[in-house]
Amino acid sequence: MTRITNRPLGPVYRDGAPADAAAVANLVGRASREQRHLNEWMIAQGHVVVAVWNDDIVGVGASATNSVHPARVTRAVLVAEEHRRSGIGSGLLARVRDLDNLPSRVRVPAEDAATVAFFRRHGLATLVASRLIVVDPRRHSVARWAENVSPIAGLELTPVVVPLADEVVSSVVALYERTHRWDPPAPLSLADARRYLTDDVCFGVTAMHGGDVRGVALAHHADVHEVAFAGGVAEGDALLSQVLVAWLCAHAEGALEFEVDEGEGASDDLMGALRAVPEATIKSSVLILGER
Ligand SMILES: CC(C)(COP(=O)(O)OP(=O)(O)OC[C@H]1O[C@@H](n2cnc3c(N)ncnc32)[C@H](O)[C@@H]1OP(=O)(O)O)[C@@H](O)C(=O)NCCC(=O)NCCS
Repeated sequence: MTRITNRPLGPVYRDGAPADAAAVANLVGRASREQRHLNEWMIAQGHVVVAVWNDDIVGVGASATNSVHPARVTRAVLVAEEHRRSGIGSGLLARVRDLDNLPSRVRVPAEDAATVAFFRRHGLATLVASRLIVVDPRRHSVARWAENVSPIAGLELTPVVVPLADEVVSSVVALYERTHRWDPPAPLSLADARRYLTDDVCFGVTAMHGGDVRGVALAHHADVHEVAFAGGVAEGDALLSQVLVAWLCAHAEGALEFEVDEGEGASDDLMGALRAVPEATIKSSVLILGER
């Protein structure tokens, strides 16, 4: 005779609750460092859905909006290793997508082929590859390269000072918009942009030509200088990107870490400039996938 129990045949999906925090943290804590970081942010910021199997939380999915990039919703899905390949990840992804029906943005370490395959299976394609590229100007080869970059006739390079001039802030906004066409930012007021920028600008430069800002580079304080913005205000100014990188190399006290997205509607000219720098190394590579 068949005994009927109350045990579910599959996982139960429900919204995450404060009481789930420890179990979710335990699941996330078992993931690799890169995955853990993503998930902690998502769980703090977003709407969380959990998959429960025999009273245990075996999977978590999350969606989080970002007011700077309103067109896409950041999502993450994580399933306990021993429960993978039984449809739980798909169940979680479907539920977090249903929350808003907006296009997704997911970040996956480029080497995590399984997770990339999972998201591709669900119709997400690579939008850009986001890399951290380290350049160390204390190396002779780099210093020599920087000295030998040809200047551009008529270009004036001026170190930035804090508080940043309006034209510096607006050129950073223009650069940001140009390099994020793959996930267009909301219109940003000068005041908002200034708030994002000023606090930890360590040093930087504006490139002026004929009275207009043609390019800008800003480096932030850290053990290494993080360079979040560097490039021409207009597209395709590869030589200008080289000049800006060379200026940063000549003025940095330590290593420079460039965050650069490669792909359609991203900062390909900066990537081109960095390819020319000797001994530049890729520290990490993350794929950003989404519905096209
Ligand atoms: C990616 C992940 C969520 C998938 O969860 P899952 O429950 O195993 O996924 P599913 O069973 O729903 O898989 C659906 C499909 O995705 C694809 N897929 C999933 N895992 C795969 C793998 N290891 N290799 C190749 N394809 C895979 C397959 O097409 C699979 O269908 P199939 O099993 O019928 O072949 C899980 O592997 C995981 O948690 N990885 C770490 C994720 C992470 O780092 N998250 C944080 C950043 S978003």
